[in-house]
Order: sequence, then C-alpha cells, then structure tokens
Amino acid sequence: AAGSTGAITSLGFTAVAKTLADTITVPAGYTATVLYRTGDPIASGIAAAKNDGTDGDFDKRSGDCHDGIEYFGLNAAGTGPDASNSERGLLGMNHEYQNNLFLHANGPTANPRPAAEVDKEVAVHGLSIVEVKRSGGVISYVQDSSFNRRITAATTMVLSGAAAGDALMKTKYSIDGSTTRGTQNNCGTGTTPWGTLITCEENWIGYFTRSSTDDTTRGGSTARSVVSLKRYGLAAGAASRYGWETGGSADLYARWNASQIGTSTDGTDDYRNITNNFGWNVEIDPYNRSAAIRKRTSMGRFAHEAAAYLTPVAGKPLAFYMGDDSRGEYIYKFVSTANWAAADATPADRIATGDKYLDSGKLYVAKFNADGTGQWLLLDIGVAAIAGYATYTFANQADVLINARLAADAVGATKMDRPEWSTVNPATDDIYFTLTNNTNRVLTGTAYPLVDAANPRAYNDTKGTATAQKGNVNGHIIRISETGRDPAATAFSWDVYLFGAESTAAEAINLSGLTADQDFSSPDGMRFANSTGLAWIETDDGAYTDVTNCMLLAAVAGTRGDGGKVTVNNTRDTVTLAVDTYMGKKPTATTLKRFLVGPAQAEVTGICETPDGKAIFINIQHPGEDTTAATLATPSAYGSHWPDGGTARPRSATVVITKNDGGRIGS
Ligand code: FEO
Ligand code: CA
Ligand code: CA
Ligand code: CA
Repeated sequence: AAGSTGAITSLGFTAVAKTLADTITVPAGYTATVLYRTGDPIASGIAAAKNDGTDGDFDKRSGDCHDGIEYFGLNAAGTGPDASNSERGLLGMNHEYQNNLFLHANGPTANPRPAAEVDKEVAVHGLSIVEVKRSGGVISYVQDSSFNRRITAATTMVLSGAAAGDALMKTKYSIDGSTTRGTQNNCGTGTTPWGTLITCEENWIGYFTRSSTDDTTRGGSTARSVVSLKRYGLAAGAASRYGWETGGSADLYARWNASQIGTSTDGTDDYRNITNNFGWNVEIDPYNRSAAIRKRTSMGRFAHEAAAYLTPVAGKPLAFYMGDDSRGEYIYKFVSTANWAAADATPADRIATGDKYLDSGKLYVAKFNADGTGQWLLLDIGVAAIAGYATYTFANQADVLINARLAADAVGATKMDRPEWSTVNPATDDIYFTLTNNTNRVLTGTAYPLVDAANPRAYNDTKGTATAQKGNVNGHIIRISETGRDPAATAFSWDVYLFGAESTAAEAINLSGLTADQDFSSPDGMRFANSTGLAWIETDDGAYTDVTNCMLLAAVAGTRGDGGKVTVNNTRDTVTLAVDTYMGKKPTATTLKRFLVGPAQAEVTGICETPDGKAIFINIQHPGEDTTAATLATPSAYGSHWPDGGTARPRSATVVITKNDGGRIGS
C-alpha cells in the first residue's frame, strides 16, 4: 500500500476520530500546515494582514471563503506549464463569498452601504492565482511571484459560446451582450485537458435585487423574463445578500439592481438582463494573466458546482459533468462538437483551445430510472418538449442555454438531492456526484417530488428518533457509468456508492454500514487523485455538527456492479414505502477512513494534489461562521480562532498536508 507509484488499494493510515476541537486533526505521521489565509499578501510591498477588519488592497491579497482549488505545475524556470512538476506550481482557487462580520472592524454597515465597504467586499470575491514552491520539503506560497493575481466580482470577462451576444445578454455595460464584469459565488472548480481552470458560479443570484413592482413593469407573472427570474430564484422585491446596489449611484453599484428601469426595448439602458450574465462555467488560463477570461455559455446556466471531464480519447468528443446545487435541481453533461486531438494537451494558446472544445457542443440533462439505467436528455430548441413547452416559450438555442433549468423541466429530468461536486474515477471512468442533502424530499404529498430510486430517502433522521419527515438529511453519493465508456452516450447505468449516516443509527438508516471511523454527513467536495486513485470526500454538514466538525475522508472506490440491491426502508410512522436501489459493496475498514477533521464551524472544501501525490491542498472555509454581531467585541465568544489562535478573528485558509516520511498521501 505504501508504494511510491500505482493505485493505493488499502488505506494505510489510522483513522482520525470525530472531534469538535478548534484545530485541524490529521492521522499520526502526517502534518497539516496553514499556507494561505484571507488577507495574506500576494504582491511585493504589501504588508502582512492585520486581520482586524482594517486591511485593504484586497486586489493584492487573498480573498475570503476559500473553496474549489486546483494545482497547475510550472516548469523549473517558471516560464510556463509543466503539468508533471511537483516542486513548483500555481494554485487557482475560488473565494466563494465573505464572512462579512470579520471583514470590517465593527462588522458591516447596514444599507445604504458605504462605497468603501462595497468595494472591499467586491474585491474579496472571485479567485486567487498564487504560486507555490517546495523547498527543503516545505511548501509555501511565493508572495512576489509574477503569476500571482486576483480576479474579483469586478473583473471584465468575455461572454463566449452559443449564448454570447444574444438579446437576453445585453446590458448597459455591454450593449451587444459580449462582455460583463465579475464572477461571484464561485464554489466548485474543474480543470481542462489543456491546462486551464474552470471556476463555477453557484449562488450568484442572491447578489442581485429586484424592485417589488418589477414583475408588473415586465408585463406580469407570465412574462418570459419574469418566469425566468423566478425559476432562478429572484422574486420581485427580493433583497440582495449584501446590499451592493446601495453603494452609490455609480454604474459600479447600480448594476446589482436587476430591475427594469430604463425605457429601451432591448435592455441596453439598464441591468434588467444582468442576471443572465451569471450562472456559467468560467474558463481562466492560470499561466497567462493577459488572456481573456471567458464565460462558457454553451455549458448551460444554473447554480454550477463543479465540472469534471471523462478521460479524453483521441477522435472522440469531450464530456464534462456538472451539478446544479439547489434542492431538486439536475445533473447535466456537456459534449463537445470537436473531437479530442492529443496535441491539444499542450497547446500554445490555451484559451483558443477552450474556444474549440467548450464553445460548441450539446447540453444534456440526466433522467434516472428505477432499474439502475438512465438517459441523457438533449436540451435543444429542436426537441419537441422544449419547443412546445407551455410554461415558457423559448426563443432560440441561446435561450435554452440561458434557461437550462426550464428546458430541463420541459424534458422531465430527475430532480436530485442537491448535486454538489462531480469527479471521474480515472481507472474506471465512473462519474461520481455527491448529493449533499435535501430537507425537502418527501414520501407523501404533492408539494415536492416523492422519493425515487436515485433519491430514495425522505425519513432520514440520523438519530432515529424523529416523528416527522426530515427529508434526506445526510446525503449520498451516486455514480454513473456511460454505456461503452463513450462520452457521447445517451444511455448510462448508475448505482449509489455511499449513503451518509451516523454510525450509531439503525441499520435501516445507516445503509452503507458506516463505522465510527467512517461515518459522515452531507458529502460536498469530492475528487479522485490521479496519483493514487483514491477518492477524497469532504463534508459541509448541518446535521452532524453536534458531534463533529466537518471532515475529509479517503476511499478506495472500487468498481460498479460489485454489490447487490439494498432496500431503503422509509417505513417510519404511519407511512410505508420501500424503495429498492442499487449500490456497490459496503466499505471495509481499509477502503474508507476519516483522514482529517477541520476546525470549528468550518466547511472542508476544495482538494487538489501535487502530481507526485506527496502533498494535498484543501481549503477551510468560514471557521467560526456562527459568531454573531453581538459578540464581535468579545473575542472569547467567537465560534473559532483558527488558524491564528489566541483571541484572533477566524479566517478561511488553504492548508497543505504532507506525510512525515515523504510518502504519498493516504499510503
Ligand atoms: Fe457552495 Fe453547493 O456549495
Ligand atoms: Ca459545495
Ligand atoms: Ca454544501
Ligand atoms: Ca460553505
């Protein structure tokens, strides 16, 4: 198991116990080192962060709420890519949102927001590109690297692909619908076979406001734009999350107001269409700061969580797998028009290569059948169910991509229990999706889809004591196999890989038979490591935090079809409904172990590795998130002081984990 190459088939470390300690706990023989914290400087001449709410210059500092993260190898000279180099590389990472309380000296000012506070908040969002180097066995970030940069919620980006330039994309800022400013609430990440970063816009809708009369202005509740805005979660009268539109009359602030204010017929004198500029996968060339950043609209618009591609095969198209993380949303696949050419793995122009593979293709949505089969349903204006959809009249294919959720409704896709990260097992091409939880899932009634084979739990109270339906509280992990491992397949098979549960729960709830060394709730981040073949599973939990902080587990995932059926027994109370689902083998003591527990009130998210597998990077997001404004002046009452300890304000950070004997992580 401890070899220096090849797949790890038996986990060698001793599992970490569940804990509420405000620290990072790793197995004996491993070291976790804080690498890159909110506010840390990434340019020469920028002072260390004081972390007291007075730091500025966030365009030259780490943003907040670190999330998805990817490693891009640099050559030894630092002049360009070398994907195989573990000694020197770039980290590309998301800064999903902000811990607003700790970002300002006395917490945030109420609406109307001071412009200076809004400017700071816009700048802590987005991404970091930051160089890391290994020297004497120690990995640290390079403050003055010329590759370092921040991309924020104000950075100019190009709208690319089949919806670019459509009438629905036009704004006062870009009257031809070709560009926009900013990316926000970037959660999961992915990479491409040609060495770029994909950052995924998730809960972007919450940053916009709409006036209470806006539905009427737009023509009433059946107006197309009103149907669309509501389907994506922005009702008339909705307040924005941070009040950025109140920062002043300047265009920089006004653009967060999505109300129809102008008198034009096409929206080029206001920001009525601004929300259509968000909800995309965004491609960034980490090696080239002057390359255009492109929002890849052909991949569809929703609350993107991550993007994972099937192993490329020369002469076949590429397939990317994407979840839409909201209760009852869908799983999607994008299939490129262009067939893969191996020479494109090391192109001279990476963004042009992105244009080739990501700007033209087919978008599909998943339908899961009860017998373990499934279909990819095409989302195209030529599909009868879409062209004839009664709820919403699609104008063209750009409209189908912009309103992918409505198109997926039209074709009858399967409503899932919040699809979070996707990842592909490189050994088998099985595609895994974490389904983090869904408190809305029910057994009876008409308000929400009932349990189905792929989302079979509605009575999953983990303590086994509930007397009411709780929905799917602990989540599960589903996996898909394309027919013939073909990226263009329209049929697949599937099973459930793991069900989250507390180990002390009854067998009917702890369906995967998790032990105290393995139990978890609400799987979120998930990534297969190319170096070892291990699957890393991270949690973002609201149900098990009475017992343990969020965690990272390692798994030997195995292959599909190696187990039998399991009956999910939802027979609590007076409701009786049994659902059969398929699943693989239950984990053993050496195929699933808890590897790490994070600090207090934090999510463990984002994971990548050096190519040699001897270091992994994770992100700790929002430690101490439950701290209230009332206790801001009382540091002893903070929910966490991680990572700086003492009475410090908590902050998000990237952590690097190494093995003390220099071996591969998990061996
Ligand atoms: Fe930002 Fe779906 O997690
Ligand atoms: Ca997530
Ligand atoms: Ca989550
Ligand atoms: Ca979070």
